[in-house]
Amino acid sequence: FQPKVLAGRHVVVTAGPTFEALDPIRGITNHSSGKMGFAIARAAREAGAEVTLVAGPVHLATPRGVQRIDVKSAQQMLQATQAAVQQASVFVATAAVADWRPASQAEHKIKKDGSGATPVLHFVENPDILATVAQGERARSGALFCVGFAAESENLAEHAKAKRARKGIPLLVGNIGPLTFGQDDNALLLVDAQGVRELPRAPKLQLARELVAEIAARLQRAPHA
Ligand code: C5P
Repeated sequence: FQPKVLAGRHVVVTAGPTFEALDPIRGITNHSSGKMGFAIARAAREAGAEVTLVAGPVHLATPRGVQRIDVKSAQQMLQATQAAVQQASVFVATAAVADWRPASQAEHKIKKDGSGATPVLHFVENPDILATVAQGERARSGALFCVGFAAESENLAEHAKAKRARKGIPLLVGNIGPLTFGQDDNALLLVDAQGVRELPRAPKLQLARELVAEIAARLQRAPHA
């Protein structure tokens, strides 16, 4: 039995990696499986929310009752997310967004020219989707509660506290190591203004349900639209 603690709320979740194209054939991506974000989308739906899941390229089934928007690049993810959060009261950023994208995208496949010369890649920085949304009108007015994730290989608590401040968000969730991809369980560190609390290792769906309950409790304490 899941209490409908998010009934009447709209929750937006980003999940998975992004794919930054180099040419029509190739691109740069990462090992994010999207499992945590999909579990959060499912848990939020079970809790009665309307859920929009903005997904990078992943191999996962859409949770029942969840509206899914598939994107590839960080720029597409930003655009889809900004449109979706206009009506939302919660934004959970779990996506592993590429920090950089190739500065230009070749129209045709980049070919070997036979000389042994190798291509030189130039990059530009991608937008920070979470920081952009957190600095937006809706979040700053208190209508949109933003939650970020952090994966660190060391000093998680310190990095997580700093990241929470830097991104300007009320709640940051740290993935407690070791850094693994595609695993079905995880342990989380919740970092908020009050301090740090651990959700011990458990299946991602269970952690997602606990996190949804935490978010719902915070919404109730400081009612958001
Ligand atoms: O700065 P860092 O990438 O470690 O921050 C991780 C958090 O920020 C995650 O919640 C991730 O989804 C979000 N993020 C984002 N857009 C980026 C980079 C990170 O939304 N370009």
